[in-house]
Amino acid sequence: MKNRIAIVTGASAGIGAATAVRLAKDFAGLVLIARREEELKITAEAVKAAGAEPLIIQADLRRAAAAEQVVDKTIERFRQIDAVINIAGAVPQIHLFEMTDEQWNDGAEMKLHGARRLTIKAWPYLKASKGSVVLTSGNSAEAPKPGFAAVATINAAIVALAKAFAEQGIIDGVQVNSILPGPVMSNRRISFLKKWSEANQISLDEAKAKFLVEAHIERYGEPEEIAELVAFLISPAAKWMTGTAVRMDGGEVKGI
Ligand SMILES: NC(=O)c1ccc[n+]([C@@H]2O[C@H](COP(=O)([O-])OP(=O)(O)OC[C@H]3O[C@@H](n4cnc5c(N)ncnc54)[C@H](OP(=O)(O)O)[C@@H]3O)[C@@H](O)[C@H]2O)c1
Repeated sequence: MKNRIAIVTGASAGIGAATAVRLAKDFAGLVLIARREEELKITAEAVKAAGAEPLIIQADLRRAAAAEQVVDKTIERFRQIDAVINIAGAVPQIHLFEMTDEQWNDGAEMKLHGARRLTIKAWPYLKASKGSVVLTSGNSAEAPKPGFAAVATINAAIVALAKAFAEQGIIDGVQVNSILPGPVMSNRRISFLKKWSEANQISLDEAKAKFLVEAHIERYGEPEEIAELVAFLISPAAKWMTGTAVRMDGGEVKGI
């Protein structure tokens, strides 16, 4: 199991960084994708300390050419791809009536099409290794609201895209699942809470507490908890699990 190679996008922060470091226990090489070099170097050090060889590839996944560059550089260095973990996401949380076409396109180009293009470019290698793919959606896919319509819509599309890849994966021997995190404490969550605190004219600390009460959850999730879920999904123990959307959210979604 330890001779495997994984690509992790969004590896400069939050859930992506935590996932790369967690997977360093199970994989020989971790390919770390994001735009910010200094942050990627910090993840790379932690990956090395956890026992795997890091490869930093700075890439803006909104660019169509990025997927090919990532796959080419990975193959040049490691000769194989066993897992592609699509975590990068930065869809703006702007009201439905205020969001411009450009902001919609930018969000979808990165989170939806960035993941789609990378998975397709890596597919021949995943087919050869009988590998795994994870796509990151989010609870907003199940409870869209006007204040975050774009991320909810894109997250719902990601669940559908993962299902389509999984169907192809049954033919090609590639396992594909999506994950739906609930509120996880990261830079993205803090920026959401800051906006929310301003709208409600309360402090950030008050917003953090109020959100938990309104969501009726005991606490925020940690990036490391989502990382454990990803590690399980691509482990031999979960090999029969494919085409599934897996939620980890402290009980935020109340429906069954
Ligand atoms: N935190 C939550 O509560 C929560 C809940 C549900 C779903 N999610 C999803 O989980 C994923 C990770 O979220 P997070 O909370 O960990 O966010 P985060 O801390 O803001 O991290 C976002 C990551 O995406 C990367 N990224 C953004 N734009 C990029 C681009 N154009 N090209 C390449 N990489 C890019 C960032 O790297 P650079 O800036 O260095 O490029 C960063 O590594 C996202 O898809 C998010 O929608 C999060």
